Amino acid sequence: MTEVIRVNAAQPEPAVIQAAAERLRAGDLVAFPTETVYGLGVHALKPAAVRRLFAAKGRPATDPLIVHVTSLDDAVPLVAGLPEEARRLAARFWPGPLTLVMHRSRDVPDEVTAGLETVAIRAPAHPVARALLAAAGVPIAAPSANLFSRPSPTHASHVLDDLRGLIDLVLDAGPTAVGVESTVLDLTSDPPVVLRPGAITLEMLRDVLPHVRVFARATPAPELPKPSPGMLERHYSPRTPLTLYEGRADAAIACLLRDARGARALGHTVGIVSADEDRDRMPMQESGFRVIELGSSADLPTVASRLYAALRELDASSVDVILARAFPAAEGLGLAVQDRLRRAAAGRIVNADEREPTHHRSGRGE
Ligand code: TXA
Ligand code: MG
Repeated sequence: MTEVIRVNAAQPEPAVIQAAAERLRAGDLVAFPTETVYGLGVHALKPAAVRRLFAAKGRPATDPLIVHVTSLDDAVPLVAGLPEEARRLAARFWPGPLTLVMHRSRDVPDEVTAGLETVAIRAPAHPVARALLAAAGVPIAAPSANLFSRPSPTHASHVLDDLRGLIDLVLDAGPTAVGVESTVLDLTSDPPVVLRPGAITLEMLRDVLPHVRVFARATPAPELPKPSPGMLERHYSPRTPLTLYEGRADAAIACLLRDARGARALGHTVGIVSADEDRDRMPMQESGFRVIELGSSADLPTVASRLYAALRELDASSVDVILARAFPAAEGLGLAVQDRLRRAAAGRIVNADEREPTHHRSGRGE
């Protein structure tokens, strides 16, 4: 049985938090909101409870968890020495959507780190997450509260869609603000490397540590070892195949529409992920298309906050294919949005700048 309790997002009710914290301490699986996505929390120092969490999510035991704490002080017992970089980053960005990978201490169970000698730690900013951590008084390991390889949950209903009956409690505080998972920064490599882009952007990190680099996913080479086990090519994906259209916006939209009409001609129902400014060109009212606008491409925080809900909604509406336009990736949250869309596409990426001339010749240009 999965119990669902509503909780005030800004001022969580102490009685609700206290009861949830007691259940966490006892080893229960408790889903709670963070500012990024909903997490599935478990007492980080109870190996048996952590194993149950992996089973509930269907997550491979080789994919390590993030340990959540209230502050840098609480991280100290979990690491083998706090790097100077961690102090400076935490002073600027904690609590917030930044996860730091550091060398671990013996206190952290192998189940949490998947046997790695490093541990990922973050102090979330959401008032419910903070209240829960304070009341529990123990570190909380929490992956995103979705079934393995499904898009992360940004609403409590997404958690229930995936995990109802498999977990003990869901604290429902409404939608999460950021919408994509935290930035993961590996401080054990020199220079530090962003393993997963997020709302603490590269520009923000470089303001504190100018030499930070981004892990460059090389041309698909599955045999290469990944620095982070979670960096699977296919991840965060809808069940419906998604194709991503990159390149100059005009060309990408033209390409997307051509393929959308082609797919409909074959009898497929087509889901389209677009930007507000594409509206005039989108077949909003035509049958056979289901269009979801994520927001203006100039407003990436809104785009990020709606992305996973849109993918889940299209999955639920049982379209046969999803075609998504890319968003500007040069700066800010753009890198995170691009990363999640590319993973959702699992390699099905069309570069419209390269493809367009062929279609002009065939006379079927938009
Ligand atoms: O925003 C978030 O980070 C959310 C909320 C709930 O805090 N959590 C989240 O957890 O996204 P999860 O488990 O879905 O993603 C954790 C990522 C994975 O890519 C994992 O491989 C990586 O962090 N990770 C965890 N421990 C690591 C380590 N020791 N070294 C490298 N990567 C690690
Ligand atoms: Mg996840």
